[in-house]
Amino acid sequence: MPSLIWPSKHLPDPQPASLIKDSIIFPGGRGYPNAAPASRLIMGDNLPVMAALLPKLEGKINLIYADPPFFTNRKYPARIGRGEDSRKPDEWALAEGYRDSWPTLDAYLEFLYQRLALMHRLLTPNGTLYLHLDWHADSYARVLLDEIFGADHLLNEIVWTYHGPSPIRRAFNRKHDVILAYVKSGDYIFNVDAVREPYNPSTVQTFKASPKAGFGKIPDLERGKVPEDWWYFPVVARLHNERTGYPTQKPESLLERIIRASSNENDLVADFFCGAGTAPIVAARLGRRFIACDITFRAAHTTRQRLCALPGDPFTFERDSSICLPYSDESKLKFEIKSDSIKVNPRGKLDYWEVDPAWDGKIFRSAAQAFRPVRSDEIPCEIKVKTGRRICVRSVNVEGDLFQAELSV
Ligand SMILES: C[S@@+](CC[C@H](N)C(=O)[O-])C[C@H]1O[C@@H](n2cnc3c(N)ncnc32)[C@H](O)[C@@H]1O
Repeated sequence: MPSLIWPSKHLPDPQPASLIKDSIIFPGGRGYPNAAPASRLIMGDNLPVMAALLPKLEGKINLIYADPPFFTNRKYPARIGRGEDSRKPDEWALAEGYRDSWPTLDAYLEFLYQRLALMHRLLTPNGTLYLHLDWHADSYARVLLDEIFGADHLLNEIVWTYHGPSPIRRAFNRKHDVILAYVKSGDYIFNVDAVREPYNPSTVQTFKASPKAGFGKIPDLERGKVPEDWWYFPVVARLHNERTGYPTQKPESLLERIIRASSNENDLVADFFCGAGTAPIVAARLGRRFIACDITFRAAHTTRQRLCALPGDPFTFERDSSICLPYSDESKLKFEIKSDSIKVNPRGKLDYWEVDPAWDGKIFRSAAQAFRPVRSDEIPCEIKVKTGRRICVRSVNVEGDLFQAELSV
């Protein structure tokens, strides 16, 4: 079996992160449930984070979607601020999103190899990994995955095609990504009926006109066809409602197909490079539990906001203890507390705020949230929530600055 070799190739014993619960989030102001949340959003480097999950979750994750940096050696800024609308181009700004910069190809391969090996350990015996890359590194990754999963465990090489503008004039426009799907064993989940799609109208027409058109094979026109291994979904463009401003955000429709095909309701779906959180959002909407992880606060924060907008089941927001979330207690914000609501002023630069109306001084339980809708500036200045004696409020402004204040009635 051929394999890929580079000088520093090795699989060290993974060093686990120590995970701290920053908060428990109950989206949509639904109050505190009794049961512990089944889903987790974790901020940290996914290598120590996955190592920390191994003791309890080895062989327990049904589906992993991985959309890592592609080895493009570029920086990807995020677009922040007021709704990014082409009619008001001056009203949004750029902020750091994430970097896809590597000193060498070896460094990138080492990064990927160690993480793919841990993902393999975390998958259930009937689990599937979807690794999303493009022409920069997909062929190297294919060889790495053959080594980790076994070459006969490649389920599909999926080509996701899209279109859009490109400055390329001396080659064909590069408008496809590659998604490598590997299963852990031959006994894997594949819900074919959940992803069937309608036949092309011309096919329907042809078979209605002549049942002999398929040389004896008559397709089930009602049930629809099994999708090919090349998919067309539009990229998340500027005026799409799902657009968050986080760079390289993937379309929900793409994740929906993957999650429906390769997991069942209540299964555990993980995305350790979650970015704007597309996979956890779709997983939650489809009734799956999720683990989402990203190394940047902007990604974790964007994911949290989208999860709050669903609103789905509660989830924990955790972080690697080596990463600090610098909550300041200094701000110009003023709060007005009533028995059934809290108001904030001024709301100008606020991106998100949340309330723990019965603060115990330990873990922040976010019972209700307000956030800036993607297309407007109007973050609500009032949160309806029954307030107790000790209240804690947290906020994030558009620049990503954090604030926390304890308020008493
Ligand atoms: C291609 S983006 C993911 C986009 C995402 N699928 C979406 O739909 O928005 C890659 C993400 O990986 C994150 N990342 C890079 N290195 C990481 C690491 N070591 N641990 C966790 N996340 C990492 C980046 O911060 C970035 O958000």
